[in-house]
Amino acid sequence: MFGKKKDIPQIDKDQLELIKTAQKRIKQKRSLYIHFVLFLIGSVAIIVASLVFDVGLTVNPLGVNWFVYAILAWLLIFMYHAFNVYFTNKFLGEVWEKEQLNKLVALQKERISKLEQQVEKDYPLISEKKSPIIASKKSNITLIVAAGENEAIGKDNQLIWHLSDDLKRFKELTNGHHIIMGRKTFESFPKPLPNRTHIVISRQANYQVPSGVIVVHNIEDAFDAAKSDKQPFVIGGGEIYKQAVPFAGKIELTRVHENFDADTFFPKIDSTMWKEISKTNHAKDEKHEYAFSFLTYERY
Ligand SMILES: NC(=O)c1ccc[n+]([C@@H]2O[C@H](COP(=O)([O-])OP(=O)(O)OC[C@H]3O[C@@H](n4cnc5c(N)ncnc54)[C@H](OP(=O)(O)O)[C@@H]3O)[C@@H](O)[C@H]2O)c1
Repeated sequence: MFGKKKDIPQIDKDQLELIKTAQKRIKQKRSLYIHFVLFLIGSVAIIVASLVFDVGLTVNPLGVNWFVYAILAWLLIFMYHAFNVYFTNKFLGEVWEKEQLNKLVALQKERISKLEQQVEKDYPLISEKKSPIIASKKSNITLIVAAGENEAIGKDNQLIWHLSDDLKRFKELTNGHHIIMGRKTFESFPKPLPNRTHIVISRQANYQVPSGVIVVHNIEDAFDAAKSDKQPFVIGGGEIYKQAVPFAGKIELTRVHENFDADTFFPKIDSTMWKEISKTNHAKDEKHEYAFSFLTYERY
């Protein structure tokens, strides 16, 4: 019961089989090489014995010295040996190798798929069409975002543009409400925004925030923390928008009419699921470097 534990091999059966076959091939080739050396030495020895020491000098079938027959016979045996190593075993080996390779590929695919499932479980990214939690159009959750034509929303944890009328609209819409955001967006603010309840999502157990700011560890808890609000807003960034889209009933989008170099993007709005209900255009002017439009979408 308390005896030494048996060593459990760390590599699987198929890999072990591959290694054994490789070792077998090396042995086969080595024995062929030894055979070749012996053949050369043996042939020279036979010739020397016959010509120098007169061994079997009288044995001359069909007028040809006996050692010629002996060397030819040995040569045939050697060729048969070589044929076995390089043809018979090689061809059999290729089929076998292919089978083993297929087995290994299948095994690796199974492992990758298990790992993917694990990652999906640990770090769920909810895609709107796959998600079972698609919100009804009655959902009171609103996403508010400003995105370029290419869906760009930020770079180096900052906004890419400064559009004062957009900020004004953001302030008006979110004033007095709960605003839900990812930890990175929260850290992009110099300080919490006045007159709004901040809900910050982070996986960090001990994330420190100024008093009044609520920290939660997943998006569902964020909505739960905002349930007293008739219209909580999800204000970004990219990771949080992606996860929040399936829960939202409304999107307030500022479309900035330009393509931007960015590292963070808003998920493309699926026009089969979202209906544009209003649009106001804003031209480029001395205070606004880009033209933009305010668009409101509601879920069908
Ligand atoms: N144009 C716009 O309207 C707009 C609006 C907002 C932000 N932005 C821009 O977007 C960029 C930031 O977006 P981002 O995607 O990099 O970051 P983000 O979404 O603001 O925050 C990401 C962080 O949120 C936490 N998180 C994400 N999913 C989580 C989950 N399921 N459970 C628990 N915590 C979770 C993690 O925090 P921990 O690492 O602490 O675990 C993660 O690192 C910035 O450039 C910002 O300026 C643009």
